[in-house]
Amino acid sequence: MSKIGINQLLKMKQEGIKFASITAYDATFAKLFDDEGMPVILIGDSLGMVMQGHSDTLPVTIDDMVYHTRCVRRGTSKALVIADLPFMTYADTQSACANAAKLMAAGASMVKIEGGDWLCDTVRHLNRNGVPVCAHLGLTPQSVHVFGGFRIQGRDEQQAEEIYHHALALQAAGAQLVVLECVPAALAERITKALRIPVIGIGAGNATDGQVLVMHDAFGVTSGYTPKFTKNFLAETGDVRAAVRQYMAQVADGSFPGPEQTFN
Ligand code: KIV
Ligand code: NA
Repeated sequence: MSKIGINQLLKMKQEGIKFASITAYDATFAKLFDDEGMPVILIGDSLGMVMQGHSDTLPVTIDDMVYHTRCVRRGTSKALVIADLPFMTYADTQSACANAAKLMAAGASMVKIEGGDWLCDTVRHLNRNGVPVCAHLGLTPQSVHVFGGFRIQGRDEQQAEEIYHHALALQAAGAQLVVLECVPAALAERITKALRIPVIGIGAGNATDGQVLVMHDAFGVTSGYTPKFTKNFLAETGDVRAAVRQYMAQVADGSFPGPEQTFN
């Protein structure tokens, strides 16, 4: 497979080919995922939890993201590499550009930011300066204290409507991908059909164009609370590479996420 870009993902959406993606934080796993043909690798600020042991993503700094982005980039040759801008590093357009520049210099090919239509200006500024943007809507973990906990979003009519309009606005502003986290499957399906750009779901049902999982969840190595929408592919296969292939295959054939991993 040659290098994956946004155009390959757009083509897959148009052809109805569902794609998997996964987080990585180091070169070894990034290379393993890349070798198995994972088209998208995300350096998530979830690293605050799975790498650093924090209980949320708020303590993650831009320097942490830069370090892990460099590590992942060294292991990746084909996958599209997306890195999260962490908490409070894109509160205004100037800091968004300055911090995105650090992630791009570290090897990211796109940055991801959490939030709705108030970020449209930021998306335009980043685009003008050569930085593609993935928007993240629904349960946006950097706002956990606003939500009062990690909980499903868009359950009531008005909230669902808001998320839908944020997605359209961000696409119009130039976002090239959307991550939808923890929303009812019907809302995710409606947004996926309305958008021209690919939608990647996590806890958003199987009608989105792609799926993403935190790698630790896909391997069942997270201790304590495990979210409903994850699946331990390692338990099913007994081998890390086979688990990655199983995850990609089940996303492609629509069997993951199944009803037991989906919010209605
Ligand atoms: O930080 C992360 O890992 C993420 C994904 C769960 C989408 O943002
Ligand atoms: Na994240």
